[in-house]
Amino acid sequence: MWMPKVMIHDVNTPEVKGGRSRYKKKVLIQLSNIGKRVLAQTLSFQSRRQLTDMSKNWALFTNAKQTELYAQYRPRYTEEVFKTIIDYCGETSSDFHLAVDVGCGSGQSTEPLAKHFRRVLGLDVSAMQIAKAPTNIPNCTFKVNKAEDLSSVKTGSADLVTVAQAFHWMDGEKFFAEVDRILKPGGSLIIYGYTTCSLTPKELDDYFQKFYHNVLPSYWTGGRKAVEDSYTCFSIPYEGWKRNDEMKIEKDLSIDEFVGYLGSWSAVNEYNQKNPPGNILETVQHELKNINQSINKTDNKHATDLRVTWPVFMLMGHKPK
Ligand SMILES: C[S@@+](CC[C@H](N)C(=O)[O-])C[C@H]1O[C@@H](n2cnc3c(N)ncnc32)[C@H](O)[C@@H]1O
Repeated sequence: MWMPKVMIHDVNTPEVKGGRSRYKKKVLIQLSNIGKRVLAQTLSFQSRRQLTDMSKNWALFTNAKQTELYAQYRPRYTEEVFKTIIDYCGETSSDFHLAVDVGCGSGQSTEPLAKHFRRVLGLDVSAMQIAKAPTNIPNCTFKVNKAEDLSSVKTGSADLVTVAQAFHWMDGEKFFAEVDRILKPGGSLIIYGYTTCSLTPKELDDYFQKFYHNVLPSYWTGGRKAVEDSYTCFSIPYEGWKRNDEMKIEKDLSIDEFVGYLGSWSAVNEYNQKNPPGNILETVQHELKNINQSINKTDNKHATDLRVTWPVFMLMGHKPK
């Protein structure tokens, strides 16, 4: 049987500890061409360097297996998430004509907007992700389009722009300039996502956290740090913008399903590519099942073995009227 090339130890890697202080350095980028409005974003030197590096890595989302696992296993956002988005839009506008979801992936963050808006546009740089998006929602259109050039969307036409779990891949400066152009006055920009999950029971979480912190760090491309920090390094360039850190996504899964979710992670893909042959997730699956058996003293036939909790973070801003 294939054995892992790494041991999962109980020590924090330098990658996990070291990035934090560098990360605190912030720089305010003034975008002079946007006119009167305060259009600036706060990004750390570290994260900006990472964003540049990451724009070369769009190829990560062109791996067929990963996009398939992505569509199948990525968590869906809750009703509460979409209610929060809709309520926020309603604070400054009663128009619900057009929502644009940028970095839409296979449509997890796009589809639920179709109930609330007359038209919804899902845009993603990866053709492979767009190919997995639903085709049966009459008022939803999906297109291959990068965040930094939204010229396919008319100036002043959008009531809402969303970015879910994707902003850390983008060039924030160019994206914000485009958002400001396409939003109507009083329209909203909402950037959200979920940070690293935790598991119950605790025994499974202990194993998972060791895998996450000790095996994967060097296989993530840089923007992962922003996700771990719930995007506290980013801000929305509209005065009065706010955060919501109250929500979470919870799902009861079998170990096989949870391992399917891990298979949608770019770092797992990277790990497997750089450490052939085999798949690190075979080991993770085997270990989680062993631990589960030792806790339950059963033969592991439960429909769900664990609860996964993802804390949700959200940044929300209104374009001034
Ligand atoms: C983690 S997925 C998020 C998908 C979906 N929004 C969700 O919440 O599940 C990130 C997506 O961002 C897309 N992406 C990355 N950089 C992008 C860019 N510069 N412009 C548009 N999409 C981008 C990737 O192709 C990928 O589909």
